Amino acid sequence: MIFDSHAHYDDKQFDIDREELLESLSELGVGTVVNVSASYESWRRCVEMAAKYPYIYAAVGTHPDEVGVLNEEIFAEMKEWCKRDKVVAIGEIGLDYYWDNEPHDVQKKWFIRQLDLAREMNLPVIIHSREAAADTMEIMKAHAQGLQGVIHCYSYAREQAEEYVKMGFYIGIGGVVTFKNAKKLKEVAAVIPLERILLETDCPYLAPAPYRGKRNQSSYIQYVAEEIAQIKGITAEEVIAVTEENARKMYRLS
Ligand code: NI
Repeated sequence: MIFDSHAHYDDKQFDIDREELLESLSELGVGTVVNVSASYESWRRCVEMAAKYPYIYAAVGTHPDEVGVLNEEIFAEMKEWCKRDKVVAIGEIGLDYYWDNEPHDVQKKWFIRQLDLAREMNLPVIIHSREAAADTMEIMKAHAQGLQGVIHCYSYAREQAEEYVKMGFYIGIGGVVTFKNAKKLKEVAAVIPLERILLETDCPYLAPAPYRGKRNQSSYIQYVAEEIAQIKGITAEEVIAVTEENARKMYRLS
């Protein structure tokens, strides 16, 4: 079944029908979801959602756009949330020079602190990186040795994807791969072995082609699987089965 390795069902865009939607996921072919936190407010929401639904797990972390709220005290609080049941990763963490909400040195500092926390907690990491390819690679090389994780919503060149795979990381691919103009990402999907790809929505954002611009949801991963299947010359069923296995391995779910 579909394993959505990166969702944000605590987003307010789901306020109108969250419960209904989450309860219907298995009928729609979705087996497992990792709901990823981004901000201070979302840690509790993600942990509570995971407690409520057996097929939902949580990731706790602070997105680079949100690291301005962090200080030692709040970081210690975040660490406590990481210890809660069904928290399977630290994320999402990284660098975002597109929105550039926080100074680069502040983003880097908390990215590194959260990588160190992942090592301390023995958890994989979910990396968010936008328009910051070189700095992300530099920090990953220096501070993520021996860690496992995924470069989520991968948006860089094939060469860096191959480098991350060599370092033992997974490449997260979502709705963008279905867009006609996503040449670079389609190439990444072609060259990276299926055993190193995770499927994701990043919902409510980044819905695949037939729903582009609309609210995304985990069942739409079917379109992502079909696109990758076509690129690789295999079946969508195989893409869904292998990527589910990959995600279970990375998040250490039996
Ligand atoms: Ni996300």
